[in-house]
Amino acid sequence: MKTSPQPATARVRARVERFHRHRVAGEWSGRELLSGRSPQPGDVRVDSNDYLALAGDERVAKRMADCLLGGQDQVVPEEDLTSHLRARAGVLCQSGWDANLGLLQAIADEHTPVYVDQLAHMSLAAGAKLARAPLRPFRHNDLGHLRRRIERHGPGVVAVDALYSTNGSLCPLAEMCDLVEETGCVLVVDESHSLGTSGPLGAGLVVELGLTGRVHFRIASLSKAFAGRAGFVAAQDPAFVPYFRLESFPAVFSSRLLPHDLAGLAATLEAVRTDEWRRDRLREVSAWVREEVAELGFDLEGSASQIVALQTGTERHTIDVRESLEEHGVFGSVFAPPATARNRSLIRLSLHCGLGDDDVTRIVEACRDVRDRFGVEPARP
Ligand SMILES: Cc1ncc(COP(=O)(O)O)c(C=O)c1O
Repeated sequence: MKTSPQPATARVRARVERFHRHRVAGEWSGRELLSGRSPQPGDVRVDSNDYLALAGDERVAKRMADCLLGGQDQVVPEEDLTSHLRARAGVLCQSGWDANLGLLQAIADEHTPVYVDQLAHMSLAAGAKLARAPLRPFRHNDLGHLRRRIERHGPGVVAVDALYSTNGSLCPLAEMCDLVEETGCVLVVDESHSLGTSGPLGAGLVVELGLTGRVHFRIASLSKAFAGRAGFVAAQDPAFVPYFRLESFPAVFSSRLLPHDLAGLAATLEAVRTDEWRRDRLREVSAWVREEVAELGFDLEGSASQIVALQTGTERHTIDVRESLEEHGVFGSVFAPPATARNRSLIRLSLHCGLGDDDVTRIVEACRDVRDRFGVEPARP
């Protein structure tokens, strides 16, 4: 006798129940993974990507308020962002996710493999899947592995982050350009964590390294150093922009940015370009924290930036470490599956230029306490 299929409602319920049984009640023993007590005034917040401490900046808030109150003409800072990135063309998107998703969906297809660094942002792989492109991940920053993959599967799109959001390591961009040119691939570089913080006037790593003519597409979330809610795609070919506006699904099927968001972005861009002291201070605190935390014995996995991650391994151990940091008033962000591989969870400390010397000392002391209580190795199951 033919058995009737389980109703979809039951399958959905079973998935939700499995999550609660395995993760919430099982691995986490009923504790919260992502957050514990709420941060209070005086606590050290290193849980956002507001690297230049521009969230709530008066100049930005005023421009947004003026726009909302109808006192200013509408602005679309697309051209200014394009020239800031020293690109030939550029297009604003609703978010970094939409920029990556829409870009990969618009440039890849069934016949164009997408080679994505294992630590690159999930939105790149999601765009490749939407394009039904064969997805060929390669080991983090391993150009030999990438070359072998391309030799086997043919030229395609290579997608990397300039600065990796989970461990703060940098992509070897010049060598990547060499390989991409040699193999006839297209290069996409996600500058979400380097735009505003690196390069001349914060133009990003591709500009800093003199590679603008060699990188086909750059994307950035404008929710990190730009502290807003938008994304950007920079392209070398001006003809790409009208194509993208009509071929990228998020551009076609999702509502646009709001005028006051655009006004805020325009003001933020000015602040990013003007306030060099913010980048100087960010570099200073980042080097300081990296040096001290590495000296404590933590493996920073090659971080060369404002992102410093404590590798915690299992989710249970991540909760212990998070709580220990919180006891010192230090709030980082938890990364766990699906943002990491299983049992490769971590706590990211996103440093910013608003940190005082006392804050840095507190961060280091909190990390010392973690080391003394739990050791420096990530927990394995
Ligand atoms: C490297 C990278 N790319 C893209 C995104 C997505 O950006 P958004 O938050 O603006 O959608 C993020 C944010 O998580 C990111 O870290």
